[in-house]
Amino acid sequence: MSVDTVPAALAGPLTLVHAADHTPGWWRSAVIYQVYPRSFRDLNGDGVGDLAGITAELPQLAELDVDAVWLSPFYRSPQRDAGYDVSDYCDVDPLFGTLDDFDAMMAEAKRLGLRLIVDLVPNHCSDQHAAFRAALAAPADGPERDMFIFRDGLGESGELPPNNWQSHFGGPAWTRITEPDGTAGQWYLHLFDSSQPDFNWDNDAVHAEFERVLRFWLDRGVSGFRVDVAHALVKAPGLPAWGGRADGNSSDGFPGHEAPMFGQPALHDIYRAWRRILAEYGPDRILCAEANVDPLPRLADWVRPDEMHQAFNFPYLHAGLDPHRMRRVVTESLNALDAVGAPTTWVLSNHDVVRHATRFGYDGPAPRDGDGIGPADPQPNAELGRARAAAATMFMLGLPGGAYLYQGEELGLPDGIDIPDHQRQDPTFGRTGGERLGRDGCRVPLPWRAGEPNNGFGSGADPWLPQPESFGALARDTQAASPSSHLNLYRSMLALRRQLRLGEGSLAWLEDWSTDTSLGYLNGTVAVLMNVGHEPLDLPAGTVLLRSSAAAAMNAPEHQLGSGETVWLEIYIEDTES
Ligand code: GLC
Repeated sequence: MSVDTVPAALAGPLTLVHAADHTPGWWRSAVIYQVYPRSFRDLNGDGVGDLAGITAELPQLAELDVDAVWLSPFYRSPQRDAGYDVSDYCDVDPLFGTLDDFDAMMAEAKRLGLRLIVDLVPNHCSDQHAAFRAALAAPADGPERDMFIFRDGLGESGELPPNNWQSHFGGPAWTRITEPDGTAGQWYLHLFDSSQPDFNWDNDAVHAEFERVLRFWLDRGVSGFRVDVAHALVKAPGLPAWGGRADGNSSDGFPGHEAPMFGQPALHDIYRAWRRILAEYGPDRILCAEANVDPLPRLADWVRPDEMHQAFNFPYLHAGLDPHRMRRVVTESLNALDAVGAPTTWVLSNHDVVRHATRFGYDGPAPRDGDGIGPADPQPNAELGRARAAAATMFMLGLPGGAYLYQGEELGLPDGIDIPDHQRQDPTFGRTGGERLGRDGCRVPLPWRAGEPNNGFGSGADPWLPQPESFGALARDTQAASPSSHLNLYRSMLALRRQLRLGEGSLAWLEDWSTDTSLGYLNGTVAVLMNVGHEPLDLPAGTVLLRSSAAAAMNAPEHQLGSGETVWLEIYIEDTES
């Protein structure tokens, strides 16, 4: 719609940011659901989720009406970073099953009309990967070492790391090895845990290896790849010292574009080559970048027409519920990505951040990503968090573009907080001596059926992380039976979003709703209005399609929007030309 076709029912100015876009491409408006295999469903009873468990519950995701499922890593791995430390990219870890289990899962997804996207971890592998073991066994000048980033140390006898870079998980980003002859030797770079050596993307053999991996999974039928730390593969020549934060978390104003380990121009040729490989398999296979880049407009560099198809929008995740910040991020995202013809994506939760039902349970600042929450920290207000999470999701799912959901958010799950130290598994916990608790809280196994052992996650061993008490009441079967549950709200939102084709729609800000405590936009004829203030607000004329909170709706009369509530309102557009 254009600025001069202002709906009659909506007095007040509009600012058009994005026109409706019906460019073909399933991913452009898709809702993609992230499955974290360790915590989805444990069918073999060992306390850890598995592929057979995913296959068994896929019908529930089809019923939720998502377009695709992205699976976090299930490859062979010593599990030092929950599978993001891969020792064999073309096999399934026995913890999760077998390649046959993968094929069965793929077949079931096809039957249900769901696409599967897998995680590709190209920045680093596990120190148990055959290539790294060969590198350790080889002489310092051997070609095996050149698959990774080995350097001599500084200091008189090489006892100091080659530069000052820090690991994302805390501590130095370098570890010294013992040479095959028993002497203290070179150092290798690891932007993450010491068990995750970084590949050397200046080496063609690394390119060839990953092209093989891409084809392996494409041949098995996957619809694409989520590319782990896609901004980090190439490092600046000479590995210059970096005085800023070197831990790679560019979520909040971090000048990541200057860091020598991020956003190097040569990265883009890698993704162009991968896109050509995907194109050999038809137009429907996609690449999605996990690229933490600042400032936001630079994200467009990852999704130019011959590069990736999507990139996660972390600035949106970090905008919280601040209307001004949300508006700025949405506007900047749409402007930047429209300029390169790429769709936006929106996201509020994933396996690396505190769940949004918990983050929004704080009135002050929520804990920093990756730090987690423990019993000794200020505690969130669970009810408030869940209500606000519903409002935030309804705001997000009205936006044009694609969206990512994280398993369990449809149940309004909070983070696990009472996790005993000895059960915490995120390497961040160990590498910071417990100072940062890490990401285990958002990775707690899902509750499926109330009253069953482990709330139906698995009937054998205790889950690998303990479930909070509240998971009983939040179990999927209980929620499925309650019309006003979080789960049923998600179902309604997803069904309406599809029916109204909101993902292909437009966005115009409703200026009268752009205040310190509210934000509103028009997508086609649907007004999406959010109230983050403490007072109810009057709704404009229109038909209420959906409200985020049954409880708030009861507190606020029909014609008002309650505190902490979002509404989708159908507006009647007066035909000014007739
Ligand atoms: C990404 C993953 C995270 C992992 C890290 C290292 O950020 O999302 O879980 O620890 O990369 O692979």
